Amino acid sequence: MEKIDNYVPRSLEDYNRLYNESITNPESFWEKIASTFTWKKKWKNVLSFDFKKPEFKWFEGGKLNISENCLDRHLIDKPNQTAILFEPNDPNEKHQEISYKELHQRVCRFSNVLKKNNIEKGDRVCLYMPMVPELAIAVLACSRIGAVHSVVFAGFSSTALAARINDADCKMLVTADGSFRGSKTIDLKSIADEALASCPSVEVSIVLKRINSNIELNDIDKWWHDEISLASNECEATGIDSEDPLFILYTSGSTGKPKGMVHSCGGYMVYSEYSFKNVFQYNKGDVYWCTADIGWITGHSYIVYGPLLSGATTVMFEGVPSFPDFGRFWEICEKHSITHFYTAPTAIRALAKHPKSFVSKYDLNSLKVLGTVGEPINEEAWNWYNEVVGKKSCPIVDTWWQTETGGIMISSIAGVTDQKPTFATKPMIGIQPVLLDNDGQEISDSNTNGILAIKYPWPSIARTIYGDRERYKKVYFTAYPGYYFPGDGAFRDDDENYRITGRVDDVVIVSGHNLGTAPIEDAINLHENVVESALVGFPHDVKGNALYAFVILKDDSKTENINTEINDLISKTIGPIAKPDKVQIVPGLPKTRSGKIMRRILRKIACGEKNNFGDISTLLNPEIVELIVKGY
Ligand code: PRX
Repeated sequence: MEKIDNYVPRSLEDYNRLYNESITNPESFWEKIASTFTWKKKWKNVLSFDFKKPEFKWFEGGKLNISENCLDRHLIDKPNQTAILFEPNDPNEKHQEISYKELHQRVCRFSNVLKKNNIEKGDRVCLYMPMVPELAIAVLACSRIGAVHSVVFAGFSSTALAARINDADCKMLVTADGSFRGSKTIDLKSIADEALASCPSVEVSIVLKRINSNIELNDIDKWWHDEISLASNECEATGIDSEDPLFILYTSGSTGKPKGMVHSCGGYMVYSEYSFKNVFQYNKGDVYWCTADIGWITGHSYIVYGPLLSGATTVMFEGVPSFPDFGRFWEICEKHSITHFYTAPTAIRALAKHPKSFVSKYDLNSLKVLGTVGEPINEEAWNWYNEVVGKKSCPIVDTWWQTETGGIMISSIAGVTDQKPTFATKPMIGIQPVLLDNDGQEISDSNTNGILAIKYPWPSIARTIYGDRERYKKVYFTAYPGYYFPGDGAFRDDDENYRITGRVDDVVIVSGHNLGTAPIEDAINLHENVVESALVGFPHDVKGNALYAFVILKDDSKTENINTEINDLISKTIGPIAKPDKVQIVPGLPKTRSGKIMRRILRKIACGEKNNFGDISTLLNPEIVELIVKGY
């Protein structure tokens, strides 16, 4: 059998050669990569696609199991190698090293628990859990039996959780009695109970004991430890069609409810391992740590699937970078001799505000590769990361991608292709980005800004929005026909390096979290004294962007607790991550004659601009701009 490593570039020359091959002959290229995996049945057709429909099918006719590829495949040559290295929130609690052999057994056991509780292929299972190994185990157990996992980040509120459970019609919820987060203990179970009160599709809930609480279980609850104690260590991996769904993961849209992006088994498997190996250049014996949460796509692709498919040692961290102090990340790097460290620019900016001694106290000589994800990284943060953490001797990969793309799309390849601060740089092998002008024409010039689009399918493109194919078509394939439209703008330099300039829609990236403004405005509008609100992003030195809410009240005299009340409503309906940094009560909002809020003006005001608003003559109420500026 071919080895995937034969296709992983080790030099610039390799990258150029493989990239050219991947775009001149994509089907034969991806067929070779796919052949390096274990398939229960070979595919009939490598790729069929139609951007108009839109429809993308990879390795159709093939049958596989991604958990078999993550686990069973490695039992032959590395049964005792650590698969998951778990570092708990509390530094005094012992860390865990789970070998491939043990992980295989634990996944099999939980797969049997799922089966015993009537979960079948195609059923949706919601996972609302802390960052503990059992979360990865539950993910892999679902995929082992062909159930579709929907992981909901454990910072979301009960309303947000219920909305996601109901949207996907989940049959089961897996949760925990609580979670540890820094110095806080979070009562996950109560949040889950509140959600379940309005989730009729959930028949059973498995509850992991994490905080040793004395909670009483409800009728539909079963303890994780009781269930697995009866389960066998063996569970054969079910053969799943390549195009069958693997998971649903929700992401915010600029309007409406969150979008349940659906990823399918075959293409996602092929791309997550290949991109992981390429970008990070992981080698045997390396210890790779991505600090994200499995509740986001980064955790799916680059904590669980990519690394485990690659037979890597992947670290899972339960806690936060500031607990017990701002040296925690570096303490863990030293303790486990971390070689690859992948985090968000927000975390870097937050840590860079504290004395360098939090970093220099620890021996970071094991580090070989640093990575960032989730938002643009500014030069200052990049320099701090490079100098203080990487001691100028670790390549930094700035990886641009999305929940929808399933894997990294634009990034340098560690030590292989050139890096350039603040630039994601070059497309991954097999990825064909272009810049478009407003009319949807491809821009061939360099040193220009444009709308970023992708002109050819790649294996891990999300196949649909769960239950809403029309919305999938509208959001990603309608504005620029013939392309996938990610919603980002980009700049391309003379050397064909891409720099992501930010969202071109009403999504704001706050601390690396993708937040649609419309659902937050809906939450604010729930307040009985609010008539209307408009939310925009503005630059923030730690979070990248923060939110600024402009709010019109029914009764201007009742403003006493308005900020707290608005924040409470947002925390309750979405989660604390969506709270605005600033709330300004305004007499009106700038609107076009067709009634559309001119957010461009609000964005400028939020940035402190007082005069230069460009042409405001098309506004229905131009006088409002001055009034808002005065109240700033
Ligand atoms: O705007 C881009 C930004 O994050 C968006 C995707 O968010 P999400 O689906 O939550 O996935 C985040 C983790 C992959 C993108 O549309 N983004 C992501 N990575 C970068 C980035 N912006 C600039 N540079 C990046 N490296």
